[in-house]
Amino acid sequence: MTTGGKKPLKMGIIGVGVGATQIMPNMEAMDEIDLMAGADTNPRVREAFKARYPDAKVFDSAEALCADPDVEAVWVATPNNFHSPHTIMVANSGKHVVSEKPMALSMKEAEAMVEAADRNGVKLLCGHTLGFSPPVMQMRRIIRSGELGPLKTLNNWAFTDWMLQARQPEELDETVGGGVLYRQGPHQLDSLRLLGGGMVRTIRGTTGKWWPERPGVGYYSAFLEFENGVTANVTNNGYGYSMTADLVPWSDEQGRGLIEGYTHEDRVNIREELKAGDRDEMAAKDALRIGSDHERRMWRETPKEAPPWRPANLGILVATCERGDIRQSKYGLYVYKDGGVEDRALEVTRYQAGREDLMELYNAIRNDAPVYHDGAWGMATLELITGIMESSTTGKDVVLTHQVPISDEYDA
Ligand SMILES: NC(=O)c1ccc[n+]([C@@H]2O[C@H](COP(=O)([O-])OP(=O)(O)OC[C@H]3O[C@@H](n4cnc5c(N)ncnc54)[C@H](O)[C@@H]3O)[C@@H](O)[C@H]2O)c1
Repeated sequence: MTTGGKKPLKMGIIGVGVGATQIMPNMEAMDEIDLMAGADTNPRVREAFKARYPDAKVFDSAEALCADPDVEAVWVATPNNFHSPHTIMVANSGKHVVSEKPMALSMKEAEAMVEAADRNGVKLLCGHTLGFSPPVMQMRRIIRSGELGPLKTLNNWAFTDWMLQARQPEELDETVGGGVLYRQGPHQLDSLRLLGGGMVRTIRGTTGKWWPERPGVGYYSAFLEFENGVTANVTNNGYGYSMTADLVPWSDEQGRGLIEGYTHEDRVNIREELKAGDRDEMAAKDALRIGSDHERRMWRETPKEAPPWRPANLGILVATCERGDIRQSKYGLYVYKDGGVEDRALEVTRYQAGREDLMELYNAIRNDAPVYHDGAWGMATLELITGIMESSTTGKDVVLTHQVPISDEYDA
């Protein structure tokens, strides 16, 4: 028991879909968490959840899970348009809550979530972004150490096959939070805010919807200026032709990088299927949820050695300081400085999705520690997403008004 005698957090999940399958194995492995309930509207998913967790309670609605007095905290992993209503429902039932990324669809929705958490005296954490991943956390520590002088600029490039992966219709409709900007923007924008200190002054962005057979935003690019003078360039292309994975020498030659592990040949076939309109997308998506083949991959035995880093959703991230650069290496970070380049090992070698988020929540509830990725932090990241949407339409810079700094104590 690593919890110092404190009781594990009794947790539930609302929406036991693909995103949740990334969190559940890590919840299982944590002494701090007792995953004791799940709610989903899909009966097959409920059955599979019960089979995996025979002692857990299973509910067919978010309302029913919220009504259970034993559940202390809830991970909301339903589709993006439900994040705000479900988070508010959880908060109103007196339970602490983690909202999946993106926090919400609009600033108005996000404000209502913060208000509900405050009114009910519960913790709200905006989770599951790659800002919690070891390379980003360690990059931040090196920047803050001053070893390379002050941070000047950040460049972040992700070329993925997000648009080729199996998608439900809502995942490709930006009016309900679909497309790469709402779905993948939080990973990149949260990481950039964490490294740059949090306070972005302006953003200028553009979005692209390029395939008639695949509606939805498949591309975005933006330029950010922080109040402290740091700038950032960020690009995300989900159309799956060239992959950032191709630029990393230790990646698979086929550019595999994301959860399905498509090869370039697979991508050729998927593009054909999409054009012909004969892909069984719902079945392909369901095959990624609990109780499917993918379950075996998600819960597979942890390999003895940490796998090499791959660009995947965040992409390649270079932090440029006055006297050097930092970027991801195979197992750590390349630190380029006047004296040469060093491949520095990571202090935490393995990214376990959700683990850091859950520890932050656990420590806040059991040990009275602060929540750093709170509602205000999540709103500030969401403001960059809505800012890119607005700027893409108006062609103008958007001045941001809801930015918050990350506390100096965050990783002190
Ligand atoms: N797909 C991924 O790899 C991934 C990774 C990380 C995070 N996420 C996040 O997870 C969330 C869901 O995406 P997904 O890909 O897992 O989709 P999904 O469709 O696989 O999962 C959503 C689940 O919620 C259930 N659901 C829908 N409406 C519900 C309701 N009203 N009440 C209870 N359950 C309901 C669905 O039946 C489904 O099982 C999104 O916010 C996404 O950003 C997804």
